[in-house]
Amino acid sequence: MAQDWDIAEPRADALIESLRAFGYSPEAAIADLVDNSVSAGAKRIAVDFAWSGANSRVTVSDDGGGMSENALVAAMRPGSTSPLEDRDASDLGRFGLGLKTASFSQARELTVVSKTEEGDATTRRWDLDTVAASGEWRLLRTAPAGAAVLQPPTTGGTTVTWSKLDRLVGDVGSDDAKAHRRFLDATARVQRHLEATFHRFLSGRGRLRISVNGQQIDSLDPFMVHHPATQQLDAEELPYKGSLIKVAPYVLPHRSKLDDEEMARGAGLQGWNQQQGFYVYRSGRLLVQGDWLGLGLSKDEHTKLARIAVEFPSSLDHAWQVDVKKSTARPPGELVEALRRIARATRSKAEEVYRHKGKVLARQNSQSFVFAWQEHKGRNGEIRYRVNRDHPVILAVRHALGTDKQVFERALRFIEETIPTSMIGVSIAHSVDNQLTAFGGSKREIRPLVDFAFRSYVRDGMTTSEALDRIAAAEPFSDYPEVIATLREELA
Ligand SMILES: Nc1ncnc2c1ncn2[C@@H]1O[C@H](COP(=O)(O)OP(=O)(O)OP(=O)(O)O)[C@@H](O)[C@H]1O
Ligand SMILES: [Mg+2]
Repeated sequence: MAQDWDIAEPRADALIESLRAFGYSPEAAIADLVDNSVSAGAKRIAVDFAWSGANSRVTVSDDGGGMSENALVAAMRPGSTSPLEDRDASDLGRFGLGLKTASFSQARELTVVSKTEEGDATTRRWDLDTVAASGEWRLLRTAPAGAAVLQPPTTGGTTVTWSKLDRLVGDVGSDDAKAHRRFLDATARVQRHLEATFHRFLSGRGRLRISVNGQQIDSLDPFMVHHPATQQLDAEELPYKGSLIKVAPYVLPHRSKLDDEEMARGAGLQGWNQQQGFYVYRSGRLLVQGDWLGLGLSKDEHTKLARIAVEFPSSLDHAWQVDVKKSTARPPGELVEALRRIARATRSKAEEVYRHKGKVLARQNSQSFVFAWQEHKGRNGEIRYRVNRDHPVILAVRHALGTDKQVFERALRFIEETIPTSMIGVSIAHSVDNQLTAFGGSKREIRPLVDFAFRSYVRDGMTTSEALDRIAAAEPFSDYPEVIATLREELA
């Protein structure tokens, strides 16, 4: 019987170019190589970005178990193992692609030299130009032209070298200052990214050591667990398919509790606002940072201190829809409700810290801090703002008006009912950190208002010191202690 199939092998030159288009950033690509080194049991990993214009190179070398010649040839094959295969719990790989796709995303040439403890070092190289010219999957056995590639340690290990860095560098001379700057920027971003992505591996006893251009990198804990002002909320373990998904919510410290260095580190690669959300760990390695995971929650300015750790084992990769780049994950449908509930609770705690730090402090100093505006929740959960009728300025105005109180009340009601809350919400979200104190710090305007409220209290029979205490504890006068102090001195 005639055979009823055709073999349709992928065209080497076409497919290998397509492997370049997975959309890796340089930092995600390097992290994918570091995954391989970690899986191979490395204790030390050195990442080097060596600038030489178009001849620049990037190397990741480790002291892990290394590969025999056969294993190396297999490893260089695109699709070296099936994603359906069960893997060791400590293996960070899944698709049998990362080494190739990550490397080709940045470079046209990938050289791997590997050595097991007993065996000899062997070399294999993909050169996309050779594949393109021959139309064949020709895996070369030689090192690239130019400078020698880095060799693995004699005790065993692997070095991965990228050259022909058309994406990362391009066709530039080594004296191209702009290109050089971009290369250095990429190096810095890679370092930051590795510090966060592998922070759990980089801390504790027997920790992994990673260097970037010879400098040992730190562990960057996105939750600042060691900071005294970080709040850890109740952690939960959600059962899912025989595993437990650990969820640990944190509210990071208000900015007033952080020094410049802490502010900068907390901002991560994307800034405070973008870094809020879930931090998804897969077998201890950070996969997604700062993402509300499609739960329908937005990255609001006032929820930016909320960060939530979620952990799952790599055996659940499929359920979490992990991608080849190891940079996205989606929670399985069964977990969505629980995650949303935890996210909401964390966000509202974060909002409290964000909005009220200053006020809470002021309130602690005096028992009866008086706000100018009060928030009221309506029956349908809608929020309304009302002017505080007991505020010293409002009291003074009512007092001054004598019998016309009704008119004033009407004016207040009108203002309260027509505040453009949604408009304010939008514009403030962009600028809360830069919001000025009321009256913009102008003592010239504050002083007459203080006098006005003060006279009214005293006329009502209050002692001068009592009146001053009350005013000092009211918004916005609490922001102007020196104005109150001046008046106190004048009266003394
Ligand atoms: N640094 C290394 N040391 C030892 N073996 C390695 C190293 N890098 C890669 N390998 C071997 O090469 C194989 C292929 O690596 P590759 O990154 O392409 O796929 P993977 O890690 O299996 O899966 P993924 O696509 O999810 O990364 C690995 O499974 C591993 O056996
Ligand atoms: Mg891999």
